[in-house]
Amino acid sequence: MNDPATIRRLYGRSQNHALRVGQAALVEELLPAISVPETGPVTAAALFGADRPLHFEIGFGAGEHLADRADMLPDHGFIGCEPFLNGVVGALQHIRDRNLPNIRLHMGDALDVIERLPDASLRFVYLLHPDPWPKARHAKRRMANHGPMDLIAAKLQPGGEFRLGTDDPTYCRWAMMILDQRRDFEWLAEKPADFLVRPSGWPETRYERKARTKGHEVWYFRYRRI
Ligand SMILES: C[S@@+](CC[C@H](N)C(=O)[O-])C[C@H]1O[C@@H](n2cnc3c(N)ncnc32)[C@H](O)[C@@H]1O
Repeated sequence: MNDPATIRRLYGRSQNHALRVGQAALVEELLPAISVPETGPVTAAALFGADRPLHFEIGFGAGEHLADRADMLPDHGFIGCEPFLNGVVGALQHIRDRNLPNIRLHMGDALDVIERLPDASLRFVYLLHPDPWPKARHAKRRMANHGPMDLIAAKLQPGGEFRLGTDDPTYCRWAMMILDQRRDFEWLAEKPADFLVRPSGWPETRYERKARTKGHEVWYFRYRRI
């Protein structure tokens, strides 16, 4: 299959504007202190010193959802991955300003980290407003494909949750089709409000707010790992 799990190539920008002095200092000082180590196991004990429920966010953008969730669940551990430098700086600012010791970051491809986790080690995986790749010939680049979903399924605990948010109608249909083909996930929606209204404990992201401002609908999917 020719999807992000196999082609291992990051598309899109990695930086859009130069960093201010304070931001560069965060990247030089705070980022190395809280980065996922490049080698060795990626476990709660290795990252946080003891076992605790783990959450994993793919493409956290500027990090507001990651920070809000980590603030809500201080006894849980959060791993956020994002290749975009200006986004990583946003997350570092939240972590510093809100004093959040329970977040580790990886500046780069989420798949490089998720594959290093032990199987069945994650309680939650978040994929919020993933790059839509709206052209059919780019569909293989979407994160919601069987290659990445195989990895996500392997790393989630039974009963763990995969959350996907999107305001892109093509991506919405595509992701529903992919997830519907899988026997390892159960869609946790019983009525339309379950996917049309942002569930509690699901903080708003920057892309979501932008989408709402443009008048787009947003869809919220919660899938339970069977
Ligand atoms: C449209 S933005 C959404 C950002 C954020 N989740 C939000 O809702 O505001 C998609 C993000 O996914 C990131 N991304 C794309 N491919 C990725 C990958 N393989 N691993 C981690 N992040 C990725 C991009 O850099 C971008 O910041």
